[in-house]
Order: sequence, then C-alpha cells, then structure tokens
Amino acid sequence: MLIRKSGSLESTIRSSEITPEAAFQQHNQARRRFLAGAATLGVGALAARYLPGLIDPTTTVHAAGTPLKTVPSKYTVNEPQTPESKSTTYNNFYEFGTDKDEPAKNAHTLRTRPWTVQVTGMVKKPQTVNIDDLLNYRPIENRVYRHRCVEAWSMVIPWDGYSLSEFINFCEPLPSAKYVQFVSLVDKKQMPDLPGGYDWPYSEGLRLDEAMNPLALLAFGMYGNVLPNQNGAPVRVVMPWKYGFKNAKSIVRFHFTDKQPKTTWSEINSQEYGFYSNVNPSVDHPRWTQARERRIDASGFPHTIPTLPFNGYADQVASLYSGMDLKKYY
Ligand code: MTE
Repeated sequence: MLIRKSGSLESTIRSSEITPEAAFQQHNQARRRFLAGAATLGVGALAARYLPGLIDPTTTVHAAGTPLKTVPSKYTVNEPQTPESKSTTYNNFYEFGTDKDEPAKNAHTLRTRPWTVQVTGMVKKPQTVNIDDLLNYRPIENRVYRHRCVEAWSMVIPWDGYSLSEFINFCEPLPSAKYVQFVSLVDKKQMPDLPGGYDWPYSEGLRLDEAMNPLALLAFGMYGNVLPNQNGAPVRVVMPWKYGFKNAKSIVRFHFTDKQPKTTWSEINSQEYGFYSNVNPSVDHPRWTQARERRIDASGFPHTIPTLPFNGYADQVASLYSGMDLKKYY
C-alpha cells in the first residue's frame, strides 16, 4: 500500500511542487542536515540533544499563539472561516475534561517543551525525534480545511503544517508495514483531571496509503500561530475527509504495524465509531443523522448545511476506498 521508492527518502509529492523554490531549497538543506545527523548520531543521541545547525531560531517557537513562519498552500477552501475564538474554546480533548469548554480552561498544564516523538514498530530504524527538528523538517504550509466532528458540527480552520507523508517517508516503514498508529501523551501530572473509564493513552490510526495521501496533515499551528494546547500542541494530525476523532492530538509516538491498530473510540463503542470514520452523509450515526452538520462560523446563528461525501474531498481520496462497502467499513 505504501507507495515509495525503495531505499529513497524522497516523498511521493515533492515540496518543490507546492512551495516557492527558495523556501523549498532552504528546507531541503535543513532536511539533509537532519538526515545526516540522524544517520550519524543514532537513536540515543537523537533523543538526548538537538541537532546542531538544524534549528532556525525564527521557527523554533513553542508558546501557543507565537507566529509561525509559513508558506501559502494550494490546499484551501473558499468558505467563511471559523473565528479563532470559537475553534480554540469549543474542543474535544478528553484528557483535559469532557465538556467542550474544559480543554481551553485546563490544558495550560500541558508542557510542550521539551517534547520528543518516538518512531517505533516496522521501520528501518526505530528512533526518537525532537519536536523542533520535526517542526523545521519541511516548510510549514497554511492549509484551510473543513473540520467535521462525528457529533455533526463543523468548522473551517486554517491549519499550519506539512503533509504527514513527508514524515512517514523519513521514518522509512518496512514494506510489511500496513498501518500507522498515533499515540497521544498521557501524564496524570499534566492531566490532573484525566477522566476514568478510558483506556489511555488516546490512540488513533490509519492505513498507510491513507496516511500517505498528501491531504493528511501533520499540524503544528493554526491561524498562522503555534497550536494552543487545547488544540493538540505541539503536534497533531488533521485528516480533513474523516470525522474529527481521527485527528490525534499531542502525539508522542508513531507506531508502524501490519495489523489494524486499536483506536480509542472504536474500542469504546465499535457500533458507533469505526476504524475508517470517513465523513459519509449516507451512513448515520446510530443516534443521529450524518446527512447535515451545524457549521460553526462567525455568524453567531446556528445554521445547518448538507454534509458532503468525504467532507468535500472525494476527488482526492475516494479512490483509496474503491471496491469497499463503506456502509460496512464506516
Ligand atoms: N486527541 C486526543 N488526544 N484526545 C481527544 O479527546 N478528541 C478528538 C480529536 N483528537 C481527542 C483527540 C475529537 S473527538 C475531535 S472532534 C478532535 O480532536 C477535535 O479537535 P479540535 O478540538 O481541535 O476541534
């Protein structure tokens, strides 16, 4: 399923195709240093210290709301954007409380530096990557995506990040790897109100070919600024054609496997939350319709709009599921 040239770290989509040449060259140099450093330093060393010379001080920022250096993206939708004041105060991040307003009130206890991300399982070489190396690995694009929660509300959010495929290529999954699992942080000290009754840490996953689709985003920011804690700082995934629960927040591990990974919501209630969770107006949630959604925007008036197959991204992603019964694989 994974489409990559054997032994090559080149991604399926080159950044040069989607970013200005100067930005591409600058980050390509950083990438070479990153790869050279990764090759010579080894696993322990990567975990232990920053890679000298890689970090661009202007992009090594971590306080929520600090501006990120970004480049424009071809991935955008021309629909009114959800105001930042709403997308940062109406959240699902159960580690910080199960009410929508709780993550914004409680997630200040999350410490986003130092932060490392582990790469484990079926990869050429397991390793640990520093968050700032990850942030500086590729040009950060501004991408405006529709964001559709399984609870039938939706937003339009400008995210800042680069294609997840870029990082997966760096991880060098083995040909036997078929899935990637995302594991979020769990730490009772930083999450004093961690609710009981859940099998923490939060976990999500994708088939590798889904994860390699260029729309799949590794996000570090929103609205041009570093992610607020409640939105999944310092790094999360954004899968615009899937329900929001696929978008694991505050990720500490990427695990490559040949078996469909366990995922938090499908473990809790597989009747209601499937592994694929593609936005699909013709497959209702057992307790409500998925044919329409309540769009949260600047208007202040609750209004509903029809939900689109694959959240409006069918042209880019429907082929991933050709031949599959999407009523069965919801
Ligand atoms: N990630 C973690 N670690 N914990 C969570 O509770 N909730 C998910 C997803 N990622 C969740 C998570 C759900 S249900 C949704 S809808 C989105 O995050 C919400 O993202 P947002 O708050 O940025 O809109």
